[in-house]
Amino acid sequence: MTDSVVHYRLEGEIGVVTINYPPVNALGQGVREGLLACLAQGEADGAAKALVVMAEGRTFPAGADIREFGKPPAGPALPDVIAAYERSEKVIIAAIHGTALGGGLEVALGCDYRVALASAQVGLPEVKLGLLPGAGGTQRLPRLIGAEQALPLIVSGNPVKAPAALKLGILDAVLDGDLLQGALEFARAKVAENAPRRPLCDASVAAVSDTLFSDFEQSIAHRQRGFKAPFACIEAVKAAAELPFAQGLEKERELFLGLMASTESKAQRHVFFAEREVAKVPGLDAKTTQREVRSVGIIGAGTMGGGIAMNFLNAGIPVTLLEVKDEFLSRGVAVIRANYEATAKKGRLTSEQVEQRMALLTPSLSYDDLAQVDVVIEAVFENMDIKKSVFETLDKVCKPGAILATNTSTLDVNEIANVTQRPQDVIGLHFFSPANVMKLLEIVRGEATADDVIATTMALARRIGKVGVLVGVCHGFVGNRMLHRRQAEAMALVKQGASPQAVDKVLFDLGFPMGPFATSDLAGLDVGYRIREEIRKDDPSKAPRTWMDDLVEKGRCGQKTQAGVFDYEKGNRTPVPSADVDAIIAAYRATEGVTPRAVSEDEILERCMYVMVNEGAKILEEGIAMRALDIDVIWIYGYGFPVYRGGVMFWADTVGLDKIYARICELYQQTGEEHWRPSAYLKELVDAGRGFHH
Ligand code: 3HC
Ligand code: NAI
Repeated sequence: MTDSVVHYRLEGEIGVVTINYPPVNALGQGVREGLLACLAQGEADGAAKALVVMAEGRTFPAGADIREFGKPPAGPALPDVIAAYERSEKVIIAAIHGTALGGGLEVALGCDYRVALASAQVGLPEVKLGLLPGAGGTQRLPRLIGAEQALPLIVSGNPVKAPAALKLGILDAVLDGDLLQGALEFARAKVAENAPRRPLCDASVAAVSDTLFSDFEQSIAHRQRGFKAPFACIEAVKAAAELPFAQGLEKERELFLGLMASTESKAQRHVFFAEREVAKVPGLDAKTTQREVRSVGIIGAGTMGGGIAMNFLNAGIPVTLLEVKDEFLSRGVAVIRANYEATAKKGRLTSEQVEQRMALLTPSLSYDDLAQVDVVIEAVFENMDIKKSVFETLDKVCKPGAILATNTSTLDVNEIANVTQRPQDVIGLHFFSPANVMKLLEIVRGEATADDVIATTMALARRIGKVGVLVGVCHGFVGNRMLHRRQAEAMALVKQGASPQAVDKVLFDLGFPMGPFATSDLAGLDVGYRIREEIRKDDPSKAPRTWMDDLVEKGRCGQKTQAGVFDYEKGNRTPVPSADVDAIIAAYRATEGVTPRAVSEDEILERCMYVMVNEGAKILEEGIAMRALDIDVIWIYGYGFPVYRGGVMFWADTVGLDKIYARICELYQQTGEEHWRPSAYLKELVDAGRGFHH
């Protein structure tokens, strides 16, 4: 029933239209119908001298109902609803609280006046879903505040807070106290002064410079590489500046429908829901009582320990940071301070905030200081014996119920848990480097990990601004396990004849921020080298030497030595192909008896990507990841996989699993390599004609 989600009532001489459609008052079919019906009621109500539109619950509408996208249209279209408000004979005031986003702000732009609580935010975030504001936003906002101010809002999709929106001219007033009372007062004042209607469709866009749009496009070209929507947004705002309102709206509609049908937008909408879905763990009762987390202990103040500590300090959670030696402790604390001071220098923190955060940090050399913390995260060297001894000590000193976490990237969480008397309290918290920046947190469930430990750490991830994804125990967990397969294939391609720059180019063109070899240069080639040397001490056949080892032995350790797989000019991170490296690779191929052959871009793409899809399918088969969407979120937030491709598994669906499977079978036949053994689950999906996501 439409009248259950939108109500009309008279308050004195003002008619009030109220939307009530939890959780975010999205503008679904019922709301659109209700808005029209209530407008008609308000117009017919002789006692109503002006109308107010507002919402109950958390927020003014946060947008069109995304769940309706891709379904056949039903009920009145949102642009028509907004046009009806804009054409109304009565003065209409939008009264905003929470987040008036997308279609929500577009409804407000169809009203004559806009008021908001100081805590409210407004914005047009459609671009983040691969869309543009499709209900007149691209035409009305430039008419209200000018194209120059509207462009960055629409193209970035970032919301602005009410006081800033007031300054921009999006709002007419910012209110304190009760929104309804404030809005009624505002409306009565408008009635008293006989204020005019102000339909934006009748306004024109203030003149802009000839180069505004081309300059703006150029300014975002690099950052928005691969995305379609930001460029369509610019085109739509340009139409607002150049065309009459009705024609501008037509242009907006044409661009909107084009984007809606695009793979990029489908992928971005998938990511929107996937990011929220990962928080819902199948089989875990959403009502599971969480343990309280008021303080955290971190062991190891190295690269990861320091970065991990910053996450908690940023969230206002006290941290005790433990090291073996004063020297290492002081160094770790100094790095944290230096990071904060660098941020302050850029104007993103005040010096007071730096001190507040540092004051939450207690450096320590004694385990006794961890006796009362609620969560401990171990980030010492990646060595099983050291980790076991750390956990044995934690088991002795920590209070009952403390969560004991390890940041190991490869070791068996169960083996670590089993040295304690409380394996139910042990879990993996796998942060990604740099830990204070990367949004991904793989939460690794051990065999014995208790449900409330999972629920608590999932919530804690959110509290510190991370996207937590629950995974199971295996070597490399989900992300690195897939990455290692890709790395092996990248090395094999170079051995057979591809250049490192050719491999990197293909993955960069797919949308990765950088290719696999440039990434290795960034991380430091010596890291992998040392691990391989350790392995070779036990069994040289387990880590056969390659040209990569030669690079490190010649002092080419990556960006830090200005030479790795590529050369780097001082102060410049752009990889430059190196003739020396070509020679080293050529010599390696010769020792291996390989005659290089031409390797096509298609082959590079297929081998680097399909090997990950196959591994991802095996990860699902083994239950290490619960859903394909978990893998997608891991790749987007941990490895910079392009959002507009939706994640590795979503991308695979768009390519076609039958095509991928056939090629995997072929490569398995050719190479006999274990990583090309086709996943049984993948075959099952292909036989059933299904994708990972449908
Ligand atoms: N449509 C349908 N459902 C939506 C929605 C929308 N526009 N926005 C949020 N939801 C749902 C979420 O999926 C979630 O559902 P769940 O509880 O079942 O998982 C629930 O509302 C709560 O959302 P969050 O968990 O994200 O809650 P937060 O409080 O953290 O954030 C928010 C609230 C800021 C509103 C955030 O949800 C958000 O950014 N939403 C998207 C806003 C948006 O993109 N609007 C534009 C839509 S496109 C459009 O309007 C097209 C038009 O131009 C024609
Ligand atoms: P690191 O070498 O930078 O830091 C380790 C720190 O632990 C050193 O400062 C050392 O003094 C300290 N330490 C060693 N033994 C200790 C003990 N018994 N008690 C207290 N402190 C001790 O190493 P990094 O890179 O920070 O790695 C730490 C852990 O994080 C490892 O398990 C690693 O696999 C994991 N990890 C590393 C990532 C990376 O990119 N560096 C990414 C994700 C996980």
